[in-house]
Amino acid sequence: MKSLTITRPDDWHLHLRDDAFMASVVGDTAKRFARAMVMPNLKPPVITAALALAYRERILARLPSGLRFEPLMSLYLTDNTSAEQIAKAVQTGLIKAVKYYPAGATTHSDAGVTDLSRCHRALEAMQNLGLPLLVHGEVTDANVDIFDRERMFIDGQLKSLISNFPELKIVFEHITTREAVQFVSDASPRIAATITAHHLLLNRNALFSGGLRPHNYCLPILKKEPHRLALIHAATHGNVKFFLGTDSAPHTRDTKQSDCGCAGCYTAYAGIELYAEAFDAVNALDKLEGFASHFGPDFYGLPRNEDTITLESKAWTVPLELPFGEDQLTPFLAGSSLRWRLKD
Ligand code: NCD
Ligand code: ZN
Repeated sequence: MKSLTITRPDDWHLHLRDDAFMASVVGDTAKRFARAMVMPNLKPPVITAALALAYRERILARLPSGLRFEPLMSLYLTDNTSAEQIAKAVQTGLIKAVKYYPAGATTHSDAGVTDLSRCHRALEAMQNLGLPLLVHGEVTDANVDIFDRERMFIDGQLKSLISNFPELKIVFEHITTREAVQFVSDASPRIAATITAHHLLLNRNALFSGGLRPHNYCLPILKKEPHRLALIHAATHGNVKFFLGTDSAPHTRDTKQSDCGCAGCYTAYAGIELYAEAFDAVNALDKLEGFASHFGPDFYGLPRNEDTITLESKAWTVPLELPFGEDQLTPFLAGSSLRWRLKD
């Protein structure tokens, strides 16, 4: 196959950061995707509808001219999120989800939830109003091995969350394990999952190949090959419960290449192309459109996009660095050759 035209995709899990940092990355997403679910883990976090609307305005103000893009906003769940705040968020019509970070699970999650039982009222309101919960599904117990944290979250938290709020729509974000694939596959239609390109492309050996590889470090951390194969199977078989969420998470090069490097891979520069690589590797490019462009909006009850994008098969090399605010970042797979590119 030399070229592939699909309905314009959406990114259901994206970190844009803020201000000057955002300005240098938002165009990468807007060139490819019509909409993106924008994560609220700013510092300070986006915990009210008013903060989300102000952030949305800042995003639109930083959009390069000539690009159309709709940021879908999310609210950061805390122990104190009230039912009234949830109702306000829904009334805006611009806030499409609430994000649950277990406190301490990942980058900028220290203001997250310490115990889900404290969020009963907010979750009840979300269930009643049809506002989905996006879950960073990892336990935070320091004694649980980092490679087991997602698997343990399913029995430890997710099952009781679902039985307490059976009508709540939940997206298990950036899943990385075969246990998560199995759980979501077997769950009700109200439970779905996003999958990143980096978890489809790499297994955990990529953290250590020839030396320590900070630019492959993200959370949830890369897993063993059988898990990657389970994710590939889930994404490439037309199962409507699994859809695209890049979790593109830019950090400056220096904050990743440090004594205590940040988690997050910058993938938005090739946000759809990297998925094309992964689908092509298993001869499943015909399944990319459903995963990237149909199943997400269908789950959220939003219209599918009407325009298209075209990818062409033409080898190119990922740059070694990209501008990031006044600084630089190292993109995911820097220096590697990719086969698929976006046609202008
Ligand atoms: C994300 C970030 O940097 O904001 N990092 C990551 O490794 N994915 C946070 C997150 O989504 O966990
Ligand atoms: Zn994320």
